[in-house]
Amino acid sequence: MTRLVPVQVTAELEAYLESLIPEREPVLARLEQELEADNVPAIGVQVGNLLRLLLRMVGAGSALELGTAAGYSGIWLLRGLDQGRLVTLETDPERAERARRNFAEAGFEKQAEVREEDALAYLERPGESFDCVFNDLLNSFPSEAVVERCFELSLTRLRPGGLLIADNALRRGEVVRPTGRQARNVAHYNRLVAGSPQLDSVVIPMRDGVSLALLRK
Ligand SMILES: C[S@@+](CC[C@H](N)C(=O)[O-])C[C@H]1O[C@@H](n2cnc3c(N)ncnc32)[C@H](O)[C@@H]1O
Repeated sequence: MTRLVPVQVTAELEAYLESLIPEREPVLARLEQELEADNVPAIGVQVGNLLRLLLRMVGAGSALELGTAAGYSGIWLLRGLDQGRLVTLETDPERAERARRNFAEAGFEKQAEVREEDALAYLERPGESFDCVFNDLLNSFPSEAVVERCFELSLTRLRPGGLLIADNALRRGEVVRPTGRQARNVAHYNRLVAGSPQLDSVVIPMRDGVSLALLRK
C-alpha cells in the first residue's frame, strides 16, 4: 500500500475549506468575530458544520452539550437537530446568560435549555437520554479520574445508536507525548473511547481533533 503523506492544513487551505461551508445565520458570523475578540472558546466553523451534518446523518432529535460558553457550538447542534431539543451545561453564569441571548437571536429559544450547572453533577443524577452527547470539556477536567467518570456517565445518557462526540481530541498534538495535565486527560479520554467494546470510534484530525463515537445498538 502506498503511504500518502497527510495534507498539511495551511491557513490558505483552511480558508478554502471554510469557503465550501454553506451560508450561515448572521448570529454565527457575528459570534465568530466577537468570540475571538473576547477570547471566549468556541469550536469554529468547520467543527460546527461537522456537528450539524453528523446529527442530520443519524436523524438526532436531542443532544446534551457539556460546556456551553456563548452558545456558538449549541447553535450548530440545534441546526442539526431539526426542531429537536438541546440541553447545554455551563458553570459560568455570564456565559450561560450570553448563550441564552444568542439562542434566542438564532430563533432557538424554545428548543435550547441552558442549565447553569456543573456537568458532572448533572450527569451523576439519573435523567433523560439523548441522541448525542457533545463533550467540550476535555480541556477543563481536573484529573483523569474525572475524565473517566464523565465518559462512563455520558454513555449512560446516550440512546443506542447515539453519538458521543468530543472536541480537542488531539490537544494541539500533545496527545502523542502527553506531559501536562490537560494532554494526559485528553489522551486518557481517547484510550477510553478507543478501548470501549460498546463504541465504534474515530478521531478526525480536523482543527484540534474531533473524537467521534457511535454507541452500538
Ligand atoms: C471549550 S468551552 C465551550 C465552548 C462551546 N462549546 C463552543 O464551542 O461554543 C468550555 C466551557 O465549559 C465551561 N465549564 C468548565 N467546566 C465546566 C463544568 N464542569 N461543567 C459545566 N461547564 C463547565 C467553561 O466555563 C467554558 O465556558
